[in-house]
Amino acid sequence: MGTVLTSFFSEVRFGLDCFDHFKELINSTYVSGKKFILVDENTRKHCLPILIQSLPENIDFEVIEVPSGEENKSLETCQQIWKALLESGVGTNSVLISVGGGMVGDLGGFVASTILRGIDHIQIPTTLLAMVDSSTGGKTGINFSGLKNQIGTFIHPKAVYIYPQFTTTLTPRDFNSGLAEIAKHALIADAGMWNNFSSKVEFSSIDLLSWIKRSVEIKSSFVKRDEKDKAERHALNFGHTIGHALEAYSIEHSKTPLRHGEAVAIGLIAESYLSCSVLGLLHSQLMEIVNCLSKRFKYLSLAFSPEELMKYIYADKKNIGARPNFSMIPEIGSVKINQYADDLIIMDSMKKTFDHFLSPVS
Ligand SMILES: NC(=O)c1ccc[n+]([C@@H]2O[C@H](COP(=O)([O-])OP(=O)(O)OC[C@H]3O[C@@H](n4cnc5c(N)ncnc54)[C@H](O)[C@@H]3O)[C@@H](O)[C@H]2O)c1
Ligand SMILES: [Zn+2]
Repeated sequence: MGTVLTSFFSEVRFGLDCFDHFKELINSTYVSGKKFILVDENTRKHCLPILIQSLPENIDFEVIEVPSGEENKSLETCQQIWKALLESGVGTNSVLISVGGGMVGDLGGFVASTILRGIDHIQIPTTLLAMVDSSTGGKTGINFSGLKNQIGTFIHPKAVYIYPQFTTTLTPRDFNSGLAEIAKHALIADAGMWNNFSSKVEFSSIDLLSWIKRSVEIKSSFVKRDEKDKAERHALNFGHTIGHALEAYSIEHSKTPLRHGEAVAIGLIAESYLSCSVLGLLHSQLMEIVNCLSKRFKYLSLAFSPEELMKYIYADKKNIGARPNFSMIPEIGSVKINQYADDLIIMDSMKKTFDHFLSPVS
């Protein structure tokens, strides 16, 4: 049977035959309980048929569909799911299976952790980003009051099944989005992985599995040390203080907002500029990061005002006291948490970053 990575909190199974184990788990643990599958319209079309094909016919599932899009990671959508579950007789022995990207996974995890004070949750990530990041680590949540992930819980899924072939139907933008979180893992923890990543032009589905596994390993090494994100886990926020501000701003102001991973890619560049100013990251390493990520995300056009973004940065829940909190890299492959910078330096790092995305190539 495929590879298993038993992280401290959940069993993560990878590869073509991971659904054999899913079938066993359903048969052994959830025979009598109701089984709900949460999808959006895209994962219902592209992923659900593959999952259902791998299960015996006599297993009944109820499918709940939510509309795709970050703007639907909301309290309104939660209420609709809570209602649907209650109307269908959800019980404490029920299981909710999220089949989707980070949006469906975060939402499904939050709903599962709150309905009837908590039912079991299984994650079947279908985007690269969800495979390498959001499906493990136990953070769930919704956006609220114009800010990212303001309401949420920590609950680890009972199991995570990673089937990399799901990524073949992603749009190029959604695929790229996942690459940004792989880059983040390499930049904070593995200089060799970064060298491989930055020299790669194409990521084929054949070698994707090893990139995903290494990312999950790096993420779980931080989560194990600090499950509730009080200290060491902040390392995973590299790129996210500016990234979340960009994402929240663009959801509010743009008809085609940035994907989470795209905002993170821009955040990685900006926070590398900051790392250079604050921690002395070598200029040559900074340029490697800038060149690699700006090439991959060159289709983006960034007409953002650094001054406007500062308001979102100040509203971030990562802040300790009144100051924006950053994780920064003193060199590629290592990270320092709880770093600070003056507002002018933060704005300057954003300006330098946006200058790389002034003339998008379509
Ligand atoms: N919980 C965590 O630790 C954590 C970590 C990182 C990101 N996140 C969250 O994850 C979210 C972003 O996740 P995402 O990038 O996966 O976005 P997403 O879930 O919105 O998916 C992106 C798009 O791809 C579509 N899609 C999904 N799977 C598909 C497939 N196999 N084929 C075709 N289309 C498919 C979706 O319908 C959607 O339109 C954000 O809300 C972010 O805050 C959470
Ligand atoms: Zn992220």
